[in-house]
Amino acid sequence: MRTKFYITTPIYYVNDVPHIGHAYTTVAADILARYNRLKGQEVFFLTGTDEHGQKVDKAAQDKGHTPKEHADSMVENFKNLWKRLNISYDAFIRTTDNEHKKVVQELLQKLYDKSEIVKRTYSGWYCTPDERFWTEKEVKDEKCPDCGRPVEHIEEENYFFLMSKYQDDLLRYIKNTAYILPETRRNEVLGFLENSTLGDLCISRPKHRLSWGIPLPFDDHFVTYVWFDALVNYYSATRYLASQKDWWPPDHHLIGKDILTTHAVYWSAMLMALGLDLPKNIFAHGWWTVEGKKMSKSLGNVVDPFAIADKYGCDSFRYFLFREVPFGLDGDFSEQAIIKRINTDLANDLGNLLSRSLAMIEKYRNGAIPSPIESKDRDDLEKRIKTWFTDPLTSIKITYDRFLKKLEFHHALAQLWVVINEINEYIQHTEPWKEKDPGILSNILYILSEALRHLAVYLFPFMPSTAEKIWQQLNVGRDLSEINFDTETQWGILKPGTTIRKGTALFPRIEKV
Ligand code: MSP
Repeated sequence: MRTKFYITTPIYYVNDVPHIGHAYTTVAADILARYNRLKGQEVFFLTGTDEHGQKVDKAAQDKGHTPKEHADSMVENFKNLWKRLNISYDAFIRTTDNEHKKVVQELLQKLYDKSEIVKRTYSGWYCTPDERFWTEKEVKDEKCPDCGRPVEHIEEENYFFLMSKYQDDLLRYIKNTAYILPETRRNEVLGFLENSTLGDLCISRPKHRLSWGIPLPFDDHFVTYVWFDALVNYYSATRYLASQKDWWPPDHHLIGKDILTTHAVYWSAMLMALGLDLPKNIFAHGWWTVEGKKMSKSLGNVVDPFAIADKYGCDSFRYFLFREVPFGLDGDFSEQAIIKRINTDLANDLGNLLSRSLAMIEKYRNGAIPSPIESKDRDDLEKRIKTWFTDPLTSIKITYDRFLKKLEFHHALAQLWVVINEINEYIQHTEPWKEKDPGILSNILYILSEALRHLAVYLFPFMPSTAEKIWQQLNVGRDLSEINFDTETQWGILKPGTTIRKGTALFPRIEKV
């Protein structure tokens, strides 16, 4: 029976254009979605846009548009980027979808009826740009402790979700499970829950201050706080954007480290109050700096993913993002670093391996993949290469799966490159161009072709078009995105006699920026 795999990205604010941070999480989700599809799982990969709230309202006003007009035009930037980066999402949610709004109202009403939401007078500090309340203790010199901008003192009636009563349940759950990953982030949340008193969460905004939001179903003078509305997307999408299947709960929520509290604490408490299962995992990745500096509009160093993909290619960009830095840690982006990866790992190691292997098949076997000889492996290197692909305990199939399950993308890629380099070493060592024995030469060429076919399968989740190119040049003849991972990772299924179709270099070297 096919099992289900449900993965989400954050939904992105439409106040601005997409940057490298948005691309990062979305490509990560794409890698896992593609891998799980190859494994035969039924996958639901959700992304989308967060369209209500102050930020979007303000951005629209600045342009002289209504918030909806603004969102309608900005959403296209995200959809175009996902097309450019080859993102295979199954559903795209917009929080302005009527169906989403209905689910938000339904859940609010449910919590209100259960007295999990109550009306109170709030008196304290408010940071308008951050849309956050702060307590007296947190605010110094009337400045927001988060962004440093001035806060205003307000006193108003609002609705509160009684989040504080879930503090102990949250603490216990997070302590005893792998719910929050990586470990450092989990400890951060535990530290926060252990050392502070969890407050209740203000989930409304009076309409006179902000009208761009979903009206509270039980009080028309208020709209819903944008985070309450946004977090519900993960659930509401399963109600109207998915197949009939019961998709709740997700396998992974992928998020950036800055939005961990809203997910690990607010969202988890909301789900507990609603009596819904918690997601199986929330993984918070690190942030990208740019040439050692924080990425910011004011510094003018925001990395535009379209420009990088256009300049270096979509797959090089995808590879770089996941090879350069472990997924949970911060990383630094620079054009020098991406060029280095392209020239060494991609052009030199992988690209050359394909082009020299196919060139030899053309030259020595008229372009037809030869039959392997059935005899024992000729030497240790040959044995080692086959072991990488066939050993039931130590093959890359086992380690690749283990790494991807732990979201250790960089380890999966590093492991593949160990294999790629050994295959290159095998060519150096066997010197096929000097080989006189036709049987031995055929064997070497078959091993190279079969190894490359395997590599295409393993590379597919990370670099789909590169993998397709390898697959097509080997003329395997099946649609790579439709194959079954377990079937295709068996040794010896490449048909001898297949005519290869050598193409252009996968990754031309880049001489200078
Ligand atoms: N709309 C909210 C999320 C709601 S989810 C229910 C939001 N949107 S956002 O557009 O501002 O940011 C989305 C993501 O971009 C966050 O996961 C954030 O961590 C990520 N990044 C923003 N800057 C980043 C880097 N410099 N590096 C990596 N990721 C970064 O927050």
